[in-house]
Amino acid sequence: MNITRLIIGAVLTAASIVLADSGSFKVLTYNVAGLPEGLSSSNPSENTPYISSRLSHYDLINVQEDFNYHAALYASDSHLYRTPTSGGAAIGSGLNTLSNFPYIDLVRTTWNDCNLNSGDCLTPKGFTSLRIQLGTSQWLDVYNLHTDAGSESGDLSARAKNIAQLLAFMENYSAGMPVIVMGDTNMRYTTIGDSARLFSEAGFTDAWVELWRNNTAPAATGTALTCAFPFPSGTTPEQMMSCEMVDKIFYRSSAVLSLDATSMGNEDDAFLHPTNGTPLSDHYPLTASIEYDDADDLRLSDVVGGPHGDWFNDVTIMAGGVKRLTKLTLAGGERVDSVAVENDGLAARTWGGTGGTARSIALAAGEGITEVKACQGQKDGNTRVFYLQVTMSAGRTLAAGKETSDCKTLTAPSGFMAVGFWGRSGNEVDRIGVIWGKL
Ligand SMILES: *[C@@H]1O[C@H](CO)[C@@H](O)[C@H](O)[C@H]1NC(C)=O
Ligand SMILES: *[C@@H]1O[C@H](CO)[C@@H](O)[C@H](O)[C@H]1NC(C)=O
Repeated sequence: MNITRLIIGAVLTAASIVLADSGSFKVLTYNVAGLPEGLSSSNPSENTPYISSRLSHYDLINVQEDFNYHAALYASDSHLYRTPTSGGAAIGSGLNTLSNFPYIDLVRTTWNDCNLNSGDCLTPKGFTSLRIQLGTSQWLDVYNLHTDAGSESGDLSARAKNIAQLLAFMENYSAGMPVIVMGDTNMRYTTIGDSARLFSEAGFTDAWVELWRNNTAPAATGTALTCAFPFPSGTTPEQMMSCEMVDKIFYRSSAVLSLDATSMGNEDDAFLHPTNGTPLSDHYPLTASIEYDDADDLRLSDVVGGPHGDWFNDVTIMAGGVKRLTKLTLAGGERVDSVAVENDGLAARTWGGTGGTARSIALAAGEGITEVKACQGQKDGNTRVFYLQVTMSAGRTLAAGKETSDCKTLTAPSGFMAVGFWGRSGNEVDRIGVIWGKL
């Protein structure tokens, strides 16, 4: 009987290796109270080293108020990919991300609005965005935030503007992308007139509401579901999650990658002082396990090029279904000037500028692009796409630009063909990736 189980186990393992299009990772959001000792309501000079040594259990971590003890926070941590500090209090935003996955395109944005109380205007608070790569075709946008604090009407109004600013940025940068937002929102659903609901209105799921509130956010009654601080010893995980924290974890799937929070909890027990047993910060750490799964019909490829120009992503117009690519035009000279795409029944798109010599190819029914070679190089100190060559299933090719020694060959997953592109562009093509579709 044990042998039978072993054999079944081996077969299942082999099958899951072939179909490794899904996985899971563990996130943590934690306001580490790293204001200078005396201003912090915690004890960061003593506590931060303890926090640092306990971060290895989480694949993706957003910290807030990582100000004046940043070196100590990173000292005993070994995540391979960590954002550099933007400075101590009064200079930096206190926002950093620690990740087991590589990232590109870190952008730090300062809020346009702050309300003077609670010290909100004393340091450039805001949000960060970056794009992590979970696997070759699995990209995910991660946002960290710390909104305006306080409970006066000026704070409620500043927070509403903070969230509107964040959502407008996402609408542009994260169009077509799956997104996780974790941070200190300074908001509770129970507060009358506050803005926590703007996330669900923008298509986000709050992991706490989903897993601990039966998918219904608490009503705005004006009475907070307050959490004891610290929790009395013996507090159960259920009791810890029955109160509402301002630290929140939101996520949103895309047509390419679906996300699902399978568990969520308060990590208080893992972040207590080793001798006096008190919490290591004045906020609780929150964790969630997130599963991801590739769509059956859409995949993103790896990318080539640099972080310049405007973002574009053809996934945004594929939401209604994958459509066959019918015509491709590449324009180039010294570099790749533009890529123009036409699909059955979709608006034509041109990414890049007007320069270069253009060459087009019309794809016959049943013919598809299954391989794209892309090369990058430096122009005026920026990395751009210098060369692009597509190869069709029938063996025909089309190319533009000049090859460099820094190239990648992007190959369609079995059964997929190029249906569009994603990347960045301006006067030329700054970065390019392929969108593979299965018709
Ligand atoms: C969620 O639903 C379950 C089962 O109906 C119920 O026992 C539980 O109290 C509900 N929780 C909340 C927070 O409403
Ligand atoms: C989108 O972002 C680009 C920067 O990549 C910027 O130039 C453009 O103005 C933004 N558009 C909107 C609508 O915010």
